[in-house]
Amino acid sequence: MKVIICGKGGSGKSTISALIAKALDTHGFNVLLIDADESNTGLHRLMGVSQPVILMDSLGGKKGFKQKLNRVSPFGSELFKQGMKIDDISEECISRSNGIRLLVIGKIHTSGEGCACPMGLLSKTVLSKLDIGDNEVVIIDTEAGIEHLGRGVDAGCDLIIGVVDPSFESFMLAKKMQEMAGKAEIEIVFVLNKVDDTVEAAMTKHFDPEKVITRIPNSNTIFMNSLEGKELKTDLPEINPICEQIEKFKKI
Ligand SMILES: Nc1ncnc2c1ncn2[C@@H]1O[C@H](COP(=O)(O)OP(=O)(O)OP(=O)(O)O)[C@@H](O)[C@H]1O
Ligand SMILES: [Mg+2]
Repeated sequence: MKVIICGKGGSGKSTISALIAKALDTHGFNVLLIDADESNTGLHRLMGVSQPVILMDSLGGKKGFKQKLNRVSPFGSELFKQGMKIDDISEECISRSNGIRLLVIGKIHTSGEGCACPMGLLSKTVLSKLDIGDNEVVIIDTEAGIEHLGRGVDAGCDLIIGVVDPSFESFMLAKKMQEMAGKAEIEIVFVLNKVDDTVEAAMTKHFDPEKVITRIPNSNTIFMNSLEGKELKTDLPEINPICEQIEKFKKI
């Protein structure tokens, strides 16, 4: 099962991705956590591991990737075979945190290097070719906004989780994501993040209750953790409904 985590900038996508990956790992799943954010580099820190070799860089950068993608052997594209397994991903591009494997797609390194579309294409290629076993879950942490949905990165995914923080902009983006998910015929659910008593009612009224799978409290521990660039070790019971949803979805 492939789950893509989307939402407004700073809503908590990376935090929630790391928490879900860790919770699924404790539930006994084999987790591949994909950092598909082209700008921010913090996911590996939240996981308490060093950044692996970036997949795009290992392919020779954007230019090398495009050349390899277009070069076709008698067995199809030379780059990734259809139905490739998580185990087929080059070990140098993986950092391990317990049973979780972290893969980083691509990062913008220098000014003027051009747009990030090749990163989107690489994410889309990997996701569409990956064949996921019964006990495996792929969690994809994305760049802020909906550009990756516009690029069709979600096409190979089974579920979109929209992370919503207490801001009107976030509610509006959630509506847009729901529309896009509907058109792409992909199931979408929402996680309300940074919730406290003051904002809960104002947040809830924007959503169909059936679409909200959990509310994550506004937590000083989470905030301080990220401020200090430390591994996220918080064990939040509010993450469990997300794991249950994923397990339920896998059974269907
Ligand atoms: N439940 C929470 N309680 C308090 N702070 C939180 C919570 N969730 C996330 N944060 C804080 O919000 C900030 C943004 O979180 P995070 O980096 O996970 O968001 P993001 O959506 O991945 O951001 P970006 O769009 O930049 O990738 C961080 O300082 C993080 O610690
Ligand atoms: Mg992030």
